[in-house]
Amino acid sequence: MGKSGNSGTSRRRFIAGAAATTGLAAAATALPTRFAIGAKAPIKVGIMLPFTGTYAKLGENITDAMMMRIAAAGDMLGGRPVEYIKLDSEAAPPKAVDNATKLVKGRNVDFVVGPVHSGVAMAMTKVMKKAPKTIMVVPNAGANQLTREACAPNIFRTSFSNWQTSYPIGGELHRRGHKKIVTLTWNYAAGKQMAEAVSEGFANAGGDPSGIENLWIDFPSVSFQPLLTKIAAIKPDAVWVFFSGGGAVKFVKDYAAAIDKKQIPLYGTGFLTEGTTKAQGEAAEGIITTMHWADTLDFPTNKTFMADFETATGRQADVFGVQGYDTGSLLLLAMAAVGGDTGATSDIIKSMENTIVAGPRGGWTMSANHNPIQDIYLRRVENGRNVILGLAHAQLEDPGTGCTL
Ligand code: PHB
Repeated sequence: MGKSGNSGTSRRRFIAGAAATTGLAAAATALPTRFAIGAKAPIKVGIMLPFTGTYAKLGENITDAMMMRIAAAGDMLGGRPVEYIKLDSEAAPPKAVDNATKLVKGRNVDFVVGPVHSGVAMAMTKVMKKAPKTIMVVPNAGANQLTREACAPNIFRTSFSNWQTSYPIGGELHRRGHKKIVTLTWNYAAGKQMAEAVSEGFANAGGDPSGIENLWIDFPSVSFQPLLTKIAAIKPDAVWVFFSGGGAVKFVKDYAAAIDKKQIPLYGTGFLTEGTTKAQGEAAEGIITTMHWADTLDFPTNKTFMADFETATGRQADVFGVQGYDTGSLLLLAMAAVGGDTGATSDIIKSMENTIVAGPRGGWTMSANHNPIQDIYLRRVENGRNVILGLAHAQLEDPGTGCTL
């Protein structure tokens, strides 16, 4: 790796909303002549996200928040208009190579924003590595490998690694005195890597990982009943889960109906209670999670984002919207830095590397392996909101093992 993830902060540009807009205006008047003729040609942003199935809401919120962010800056990237090309990934890994190829080769996009699903992300890297001038910005999928051994100069993430979301709660489970723990997740890369991170955090804090039993269910099945019956028979001290989107709504309701949360408390990655608490109602109360954002984060950028998102979409703001919004900021920043010249790949990459994105989750920096270094909060659902209990881990950086950039 060229530089340590924490170094170079002083060189990084601070991108507040107003600063980004000002930067864009300046860049538009300073376009070099060689570029002026094509200046009006739109920048093509391919969006490869799920718009159907259990993750449909995630895809919608990422898309709407990203577009909202760019619209607020005049709907231009580096002085050029933007053309969005949307494609439903269906959260289906077998379709991922074809879908990404349609965008990269078929539509010749400058950026690919996507995906949500870790398995889709891993398949997409095969296409992106053959298209080094097209930049992929991952606004959700947490597959650890993306910013570890499968990292690439043109692959960036604005969300999290699966490890980052779940390592901190392992220690928390130990500190809370839980010894016999059941984990339950969908049986694919995201669930597996998050459950592994819980065990790692638990063991590193002094817990005995042999007390952890892992249960699995195929993605995207929501037939939770047999597993809840099994959990009731095991009688663990605590349960930790990863579910998201439509599956998270159903799981939380099914758990509350089958198990007394006071006897067997429910923990999870924060996705369990993101964009879902209205639908989950009383069943979500008391659930403890870790996440790199919370609706209760009390500073102006977050409050404005939440109000704007709710006005624009009529939906609850959630972490997926936050990730979409910050993706919009990153695109604005990078294109402003090169005056809209999509051919200046290495300068776009440098600009994306050397940034602090100041968004609804606060300021975060891009690590050397292209993944956010960010605070992880411990949260508890109270009256339908994720109330912050404290910092679960300050400025957590994914180890980036095996990434050589
Ligand atoms: C993933 O597959 O990486 C994934 C999907 C949904 C989430 C988080 C991670 O909420």
